[in-house]
Amino acid sequence: MIEVIDFTKQYGDFMAVDGLNLSIAEGEIYGFIGPNGAGKSTTIRFLATLLRPTSGEGRIAGHSVTQDPMAVRRVIGFMPDDFGVYDGMKVWEFLDFFAVAYEIPRLERRRTIGEVLELLDLTHKRDDFVNGLSKGMKQRLCLAKTLVHNPPVLILDEPASGLDPRARLEMKSLLSELSRMGKTILVSSHILSELADFCTSIGVIERGKLLASGSIQEIQRELRAHRVLKVRLLNESPERFAHVLKEHSAVKAESVNTIDRTLSAEFEGDGSAQADLLRRLIDSGAIVEAFDEEQLSLEDVFMMITKGVVN
Ligand SMILES: Nc1ncnc2c1ncn2[C@@H]1O[C@H](COP(=O)(O)OP(=O)(O)OP(=O)(O)O)[C@@H](O)[C@H]1O
Ligand SMILES: [Mg+2]
Repeated sequence: MIEVIDFTKQYGDFMAVDGLNLSIAEGEIYGFIGPNGAGKSTTIRFLATLLRPTSGEGRIAGHSVTQDPMAVRRVIGFMPDDFGVYDGMKVWEFLDFFAVAYEIPRLERRRTIGEVLELLDLTHKRDDFVNGLSKGMKQRLCLAKTLVHNPPVLILDEPASGLDPRARLEMKSLLSELSRMGKTILVSSHILSELADFCTSIGVIERGKLLASGSIQEIQRELRAHRVLKVRLLNESPERFAHVLKEHSAVKAESVNTIDRTLSAEFEGDGSAQADLLRRLIDSGAIVEAFDEEQLSLEDVFMMITKGVVN
């Protein structure tokens, strides 16, 4: 449904995106993840037909991004990362403005705008001025704008940035809802955990290069197989319990380490293996204060990917 073929973008001498290839199937929610400056917006603006490539091609629903941008615009809804201010425009006028631009007939416009406002829970704000909306509502309105021409593909650049945790959750459930309605969604973020639980596939981009791309199950499986357990003990000389970890079949013996009162080790087992390890520790006299998996940060994931653990 969405394809990027050898996309390269140079700004002067600076290589912002270098030979990027992506392929996103119909019905997917694809999380496009990378730190600031990685090249997410550059790639997204190219797909949205707003940026000429230095070289390369993109195709959306069979239409060429470079050869037939008008056809591409009809099949995509695009949400940019910055939201312009529309002085003196009301919510419904804002949506009507875009609906007119998409040449939707007047009667259909009324109905569509009503439906979109309902879907995004903005019906009660229909006659409010856009300027007066909260940040979260503005983001929702911007998403509403991408839907007025009922496109099969949504391209959303950090739709949850700047939102509070509750509004982020609302944005997530909206995207899931849109996915259930059959939309193919490309959504960017610099936070892996924000996308991991509802995307079907993710790609990680850094310094203009795609480091990893695959189904979320594949990547999560890899991450699970390389997670680190941390056990904090109240005993004196906690290192004398290191052998319990080393002898456990789910622990990589050579990775066992003791720092202060905390033992750590790479762990490849499931929940019951964890419970088993905890029981063995306690049986051997350990006083366990905390027993936890280290949460992998995006940096850790990058490190693992660049070390070739995930590909
Ligand atoms: N118009 C431009 N002129 C020169 N350099 C640019 C331009 N637009 C982007 N860049 C550079 O290209 C690189 C990629 O930028 P891009 O906006 O695509 O990153 P991003 O992944 O979207 O980052 P962020 O998370 O901050 O939004 C950055 O180093 C940026 O400074
Ligand atoms: Mg960006």
